[in-house]
Amino acid sequence: MFENLQALPPDPILALTPAFRADPNPRKIDLGAGVYKDEQGNTPVMRAVKQAESELLAGQRSKAYVGPAGDRGFNEAMASLAFGDELLASLGERRVSLQTPGGCGGLRLAAEFLAQANPDATVWLSDPTWPNHRPLLGAARLGMESYPYYDFGSHSVRFDAMLDRLSAAAAGDVLLLHGCCHNPCGADLAAEQWRAVRDLALDKGLVVLIDMAYQGLGDGLERDVAGVRMLAESLPELLLVSSCSKNFGLYRERTGALSAICASASVAKAAASRLAATARANWSMPPDHGAAVVRTIMENPALRADWETELAEVRGRINGLRTSLAQALREAGLSRDFGFIEREKGMFSFLGVTPEQAEILVSRYSIYLVKSGRINIAGINRANIGYLADSLAKLLAEG
Ligand code: LMR
Repeated sequence: MFENLQALPPDPILALTPAFRADPNPRKIDLGAGVYKDEQGNTPVMRAVKQAESELLAGQRSKAYVGPAGDRGFNEAMASLAFGDELLASLGERRVSLQTPGGCGGLRLAAEFLAQANPDATVWLSDPTWPNHRPLLGAARLGMESYPYYDFGSHSVRFDAMLDRLSAAAAGDVLLLHGCCHNPCGADLAAEQWRAVRDLALDKGLVVLIDMAYQGLGDGLERDVAGVRMLAESLPELLLVSSCSKNFGLYRERTGALSAICASASVAKAAASRLAATARANWSMPPDHGAAVVRTIMENPALRADWETELAEVRGRINGLRTSLAQALREAGLSRDFGFIEREKGMFSFLGVTPEQAEILVSRYSIYLVKSGRINIAGINRANIGYLADSLAKLLAEG
């Protein structure tokens, strides 16, 4: 019966990596998948991670199961990083956290949990959003709608249109937000917009689900979660998915967490049992290594300080590249204003090219980017920025 199955089109982001590797052009540039790269084009293991790994290797005495909810120390560290200790204390037993296989595992778990609580819920996704949101959340058979988010003309959030569209959401629907460093557009909500979203969620009885994959890569570990904390303080229910892929560089270790804030401690107890049972039915127990590394770093003040320093270096490099790219594009004689690249946050921005132009950048110039025109800023370096700017100038001159 397997012959009934048709092959699916390749993943729009992941397919770029092997294509880039196979390209013999020495000038090739990889601006595809959201993976941090240093000036030499490498994706390094962070110093604190290496140190924690050697401590774990020397000290680990057992490989026994961690249990469906994962490593408790890791879960608490992740909750503290996202919510801060003061808010965490005031949430008390209304909050539960579980370790998940990456942010994707957290999103999938969140979707199944939401479908158990309200099978009729519609999930509202930003337009545009990360292409894997639909398959991940849709797998739980929840309805999907989108709300306008990014204005490609002004390179800003279409906030009025977003609120207008969300007025059609029903009580019990789910509003998916990006915690910071919006993927793919890099445009985040301003403080007053977070407040308006909070008021809307309260007013309409929406459950907010936050995907936080880039904490620390925008303005800093604390500033990046200001909106998340504002919502967590005042909404009766909230789901937060945190990923350690980018800020700890643990991509392949599949390290993430899901925190649920519930209306009361007794609801949270039921939620914890549901989440653990749903995890058990999916992957049984999460992989240990990445979470053990993060816990080791977070429990050791010297390692934690070193991690924060290196993360600040990563953030500084990305923000510096944003400025350099905007400048290189100005110097390449492009009449279009690329100043928005400097204002946007995190790994991604749209270059403002059509899907056809994106394909030409790949096929003619060996510049690999997602067809939507999204680029990974961290793939740029001093050696390739000139070629990138010149190639884009040539392409756009063709009209
Ligand atoms: C991206 O958006 O490029 C990253 O989050 C990698 C992925 O899994 O898509």
